[in-house]
Amino acid sequence: MKTALILNGPNLNLLGTREPQVYGSQTLADVEALCERACQTHGFTLDFRQSNHEGTLVDWLHEAGRLHAQGKLAGVILNAGAYTHTSVALHDAIKGTGITLIELHISNVHAREAFRHHSYISPAAKAVMAGFGVNGYALAVAALAGMQ
Ligand code: DQA
Repeated sequence: MKTALILNGPNLNLLGTREPQVYGSQTLADVEALCERACQTHGFTLDFRQSNHEGTLVDWLHEAGRLHAQGKLAGVILNAGAYTHTSVALHDAIKGTGITLIELHISNVHAREAFRHHSYISPAAKAVMAGFGVNGYALAVAALAGMQ
């Protein structure tokens, strides 16, 4: 069974209490449970992580690259949070690994502040999803299944 690696960046540990009018009231643990159900449906093993640290996310993308090289990775779903809009390092890490990666945002970043309209992740991603709320994570797992 291949692994779906779901990576969450800074402040996503605050889901549930963080700007609920933007991100909803479900916690990151709720999102993980949602992803677990979606992965069971699609025959993936779930590996679900969150970090507030850019370098940790880079290290995890490199780990994904090694899994990919071994044929054990279905793909990565990345909600890089604010690093989406700032991180050349994450862009380079994705490009350097050759992994299949879906960029995900809970909110519709294009309907928000101008500084959220640019993404360093998008040019390195296979697909981009935004604005589906936390249910977007389940939709992204289904999309990953369609890419196998
Ligand atoms: C986010 C959107 C980003 O602009 C923001 O910095 C986040 C969350 C989203 O899921 O909608 O932290 O990635």
